[in-house]
Order: sequence, then structure tokens, then C-alpha cells
Amino acid sequence: MNNTILIVDDIEINREILSLLFDEGYQIIEAEDGFQAIEKIKEEKENLSAILLDIIMPNMDGFGVLEYMNKEKLMSKIPVILITGDTSMELKKKGYDLGVSDIIEKPFDKQIVQKRVNNLVELYFHKNNLEQLVEEQTIEIREKNDKINQMNYRLIDTLGTMVEFRDLESGGHIMRVRELTTVLLKYVQKYYKEYGITNEIADIIAYASSMHDIGKIAIPDNILLKPGKLTKDEFEVMKTHTVKGCEILNRVSIADDSLYMSYCYQIIRSHHEKFDGTGYPDGLEKDKIPIAAQIVSIADVYDALISDRVYKKAYSKQEAYDMILSGKCGGFNPKLVECFKLAKEEFEQTAERIS
Ligand code: C2E
Ligand code: SIN
Ligand code: SIN
Ligand code: FE
Ligand code: FE
Repeated sequence: MNNTILIVDDIEINREILSLLFDEGYQIIEAEDGFQAIEKIKEEKENLSAILLDIIMPNMDGFGVLEYMNKEKLMSKIPVILITGDTSMELKKKGYDLGVSDIIEKPFDKQIVQKRVNNLVELYFHKNNLEQLVEEQTIEIREKNDKINQMNYRLIDTLGTMVEFRDLESGGHIMRVRELTTVLLKYVQKYYKEYGITNEIADIIAYASSMHDIGKIAIPDNILLKPGKLTKDEFEVMKTHTVKGCEILNRVSIADDSLYMSYCYQIIRSHHEKFDGTGYPDGLEKDKIPIAAQIVSIADVYDALISDRVYKKAYSKQEAYDMILSGKCGGFNPKLVECFKLAKEEFEQTAERIS
């Protein structure tokens, strides 16, 4: 516990009287004017448990000291008690406005001064301790949260790529979809601010795109890896990779309700919705489809088209571009199609780079 009291008064006998009141429980230091007081505060601020401050002094008065302490944000750490012979309302108001804890008028009763100062010292001791404790715990909680989030990110990213182990042909799909999503996001952010995609959200969407096909883990080999066209029934099973993906995410994410999780969820569930409402699993249309899922959908379809799949040969990049524009892959949001057009060359370079 701090145990130093600073007594500031220009009159020696006043300092002496106050010293005698407190020299049993405390170490006493003294200053004769505001300048000296500030020097002492600088030296001893870690040890000060209270300051007894006179107002009217030569060179710098008590208000000068209070202004300094306010500037240095010390008023909430160290209680200041004004000891003054001037009892005007104006002075009291100014003192309290500057954050003093108490004003004691001269002449004073010694025991009352002792009691009031001791009470304040104790109060501030507990207050400071409590504040420090809260601050330490806040930092600790934040660090723990960061760590958990990072672990979750890593786990989920690994899950997202696990589907690639099922089928060697599709290697790189997840990474390309992420990079293509990043390219598209850049244009959406620039030209369609109404979607409110900040840089932070763009990062999250790009990251979360890795998860879009996580549900394929739950699709049997004889369907996922079927070298030819799926029957109607088989395709119905295939379509469940959206909803199954959400179930997997729910199991992994336990109690995490972060923004990241909610974007993962939207993307996994809705990346096969179509703008005209003919997609799956919910048949959502237009802006009922989360924008993140719409963006990832273009990246996903583009990459599926330009890649060999067990069930189809790769189309050229130009063919893929034309197929998306002509509506062969279902209609997309016209705004996103505009962005896709602008991003044509960057899409081609990105796909080339990660192949
Ligand atoms: P995926 O291979 O990642 O394809 C994603 C989406 O790209 C497809 O969603 C579709 O919208 C588009 N796409 C891919 N290839 C073509 C194509 O040749 N023509 C056109 N017009 N669009 C294409 P979709 O159709 O909902 O399929 C979802 C997933 O189902 C596919 O993911 C794939 O894993 C599987 N799948 C779809 N059709 C077949 C198939 O005939 N045989 C097999 N084995 N799997 C299929
Ligand atoms: C479902 O939609 O039926 C399962 C996925 C989920 O809501 O978490
Ligand atoms: C995938 O699209 O990620 C794998 C499934 C496939 O290539 O048919
Ligand atoms: Fe998919
Ligand atoms: Fe996909």
C-alpha cells in the first residue's frame, strides 16, 4: 500500500501541523509552492496515497497543480484534499470541477481531518486495485479469446480443405475460390458500397469461402466421385452438401458466435442459391441470398468450369466467362456480374497462378 502524503503549503507552520497529524501512518513529503509540488509529484507519483493542497501560494497556486494533475490523468489515481481558509462558493466549485476529493476549511478539527484523509486513502486504494484487476483480467480474456479464435480458424480451414483429399483432381479448388473471391470482393467494395463490405468483412468472407464445400465430406464416394453424370436421385443427395456442411460447422463451432462463424454459415448454406430463386437448399431469391454467398458462388462456379472434374472436362477460361454471362449456370446478381466483367483478366491471372 502506498504510504506517502504530499503536503503543499507556503506557510511552514501549516505544513508542520499537518505533518504531525499524519506522521504516524505515513511518510511525509512537503512542497512550498505549486512548482515544487509538481516536481515531487513527478518523483513520487507511484508512492503517493494523498495530496493535501493549499490554494493560495506564491509562484504557482494550487489550481496550477490541479491542472497539471488533470493533464497527466492523475486525479483518478491520487486523492487530492484542498485545505483552505478561503471558503467562497466559487472556490469550492472550481476545486470540485478540477476533481478534488474533499475540501477542508481552516481552521479545522484535527481528528476530523485525520478521519477524512484516512477514509479517502483507503477508498482510493481499493478503487485503484479494482481497476487494475479489471484491466488485467480484460487483457487476459482478450488474449485467450484471440487464441481460441485462431485455433478455430485453423481447424476450420483444415476442415475446408479436407474435401480435397477425397478427390485429387480437385486440388487447389479451395485456394483458387478464396483468391477469386478476394478479387471479386475488391470490385464489390469499390463500386457497390451499399453492401457495406468493409476491409475487415472482406477478409472474413475470403477466409470463410474455404468452407463452402465442407459438406462434401458427408457425400458418399459413389456419388462424389462418380465419373459420369449424376442421376436425379444422386444429385438430390449431392445437394445436401450445403445443409450437411452447416451441421458440421455447428458441431465444430461449439459456443462461438463470432462474425466469422456467421459468414461461414451463410456461405456453406447458400452458395448454390440462384438469383432467380431456382437454387438450393432454400430457393432464396435476389437479396434474400446473403451477399457473401452470392460472391463466393461466382468464384466457385468459375473455378468448377475451368477445372477438370471427375464428371467433366475443363472449359477454357473464355468459355467459362461466356457461360456465366449467358446464364448457362443460372442467373447471378447483375451487380456482381458487372464486377465479374471488370475482374475478367484478374480472374484469368489468378486461376493461372494457382494451378
Ligand atoms: P463443383 O464441381 O464444385 O461445381 C460447382 C458448381 O459449378 C455447380 O454446382 C454448377 O453450378 C457449376 N458447374 C460445374 N460444372 C459445370 C458444367 O459443366 N456446366 C455448368 N453449366 N455448370 C457447371 P451444382 O451443379 O449445384 O453441383 C454441385 C456439386 O455437385 C459440384 O460441385 C460437384 O461436386 C457435384 N456434381 C454436379 N454435377 C455432377 C455430375 O454430373 N457428376 C458428379 N460426379 N458430380 C457432380
Ligand atoms: C439444417 O438446416 O437443417 C441443418 C443445418 C443447421 O441449421 O445448422
Ligand atoms: C470439389 O468440387 O471440390 C470436389 C468434387 C469434385 O471434383 O467433383
Ligand atoms: Fe458446393
Ligand atoms: Fe465448390
